[in-house]
Amino acid sequence: MRVLVTGGAGFIGSHFAKRLLRSGDDVVVLDKLTYSGNPANLEGTEVELVVGDICDPRAVERTAKGCEAIVNFAAETHVDRSILGATDFGRTEFVGTQTLLELVRKTEARYVQVSTDEVYGDLETGGSSRESDPLCPSSPYSVAKAAGDLHIPAYVRTFGIQACITRGSNTYGPNQYPEKLIPLFATNALDGKPLPLYGDGKQIRDWLYVEDHCAGIEAVLRRGRSGEIYNIGGGQEVENIEVAERIIELTGADPLLLQHVDDRPGHDRRYSLSCEKATRELGWEPVVPFTEGLAQTVAWYDESRPWWEPIKSGEHYQAYYERQYADRLGNVE
Ligand code: NAD
Ligand code: TYD
Repeated sequence: MRVLVTGGAGFIGSHFAKRLLRSGDDVVVLDKLTYSGNPANLEGTEVELVVGDICDPRAVERTAKGCEAIVNFAAETHVDRSILGATDFGRTEFVGTQTLLELVRKTEARYVQVSTDEVYGDLETGGSSRESDPLCPSSPYSVAKAAGDLHIPAYVRTFGIQACITRGSNTYGPNQYPEKLIPLFATNALDGKPLPLYGDGKQIRDWLYVEDHCAGIEAVLRRGRSGEIYNIGGGQEVENIEVAERIIELTGADPLLLQHVDDRPGHDRRYSLSCEKATRELGWEPVVPFTEGLAQTVAWYDESRPWWEPIKSGEHYQAYYERQYADRLGNVE
């Protein structure tokens, strides 16, 4: 099957594209290469990378030609950045998803929207979110994701397209841009720099190894029922402070590097997913224990300085801004 993976030069999308290749599928990636999109994530593979925006109908139509499925990972993904300014989040998540669906309604392509547990909002007082729960997003990022999700049932109902939504929990693994908790703390610890823990550090996230997340998305792509939502969670709820302490232990860094800093505005205390539906209907469940996945991830960052040093030194940003400039001059397709 030929599959269009949008946002496939980013963290999870690149793992997913490589996974499909291993299954014998043919993969084309459409990616705008924002600051977090990185062609190095696809280096040495057979994946065809097209640089373009999912909000651009012409780029979408050209790239999707001959594809039997579209899996949409493209998004602005960092909560802290959405607090600084959310315009790009709304545009990519809402307009971009709509642009993809406008193409899908003219084809037979199957569509998977990759979403997040954050659309259900904060579960501080306990329990786990189910697919039928109301959306209650509380950051500009999660509002944008929820807004994108809302298109899917409307297009399924109105136009009869074949589409599903996956809602994944906090994902970690190799190739994650070092702005998110685990790669930021791992690379800072390896460099002897402070680990900035927001507030009391007792916030809880449900950690999911990237290959487990991709296996869940693949199961939905191949066997999901159209119109359905599937939660894909790690089932491993850990406080941020414990994540930080484990990273310090794994890297042998000085424990004094752990520093409490001001809390994130509107910080969600806890996310938790019930994934019983994905297990029952699709036979999917996560297999990588957090301790094991974290150790592998920290080891990957330790061995992969050529991947992350240009990002942290600003070299990668420089290339990004040069591309933006070339784009305005019409040099980038
Ligand atoms: P990422 O930031 O590493 O990758 C996002 C990719 O999308 C980048 O390659 C970027 O260049 C591309 N992109 C952004 N705007 C685009 C546009 N307008 N057109 C084309 N490409 C564009 O993020 P990630 O962690 O790999 O997340 C991928 C998806 O998974 C997102 O939709 C995110 O909401 C979802 N998700 C992430 C997590 C997590 O913990 N990382 C958990 C659940 C769901
Ligand atoms: P993050 O990786 O940004 O994912 P999300 O906000 O989407 O869950 O953050 C994970 C948790 O770690 C979240 O509770 C915020 C916290 N955090 C810190 O304490 N310090 C940091 O520097 C970062 C980036 C996150």
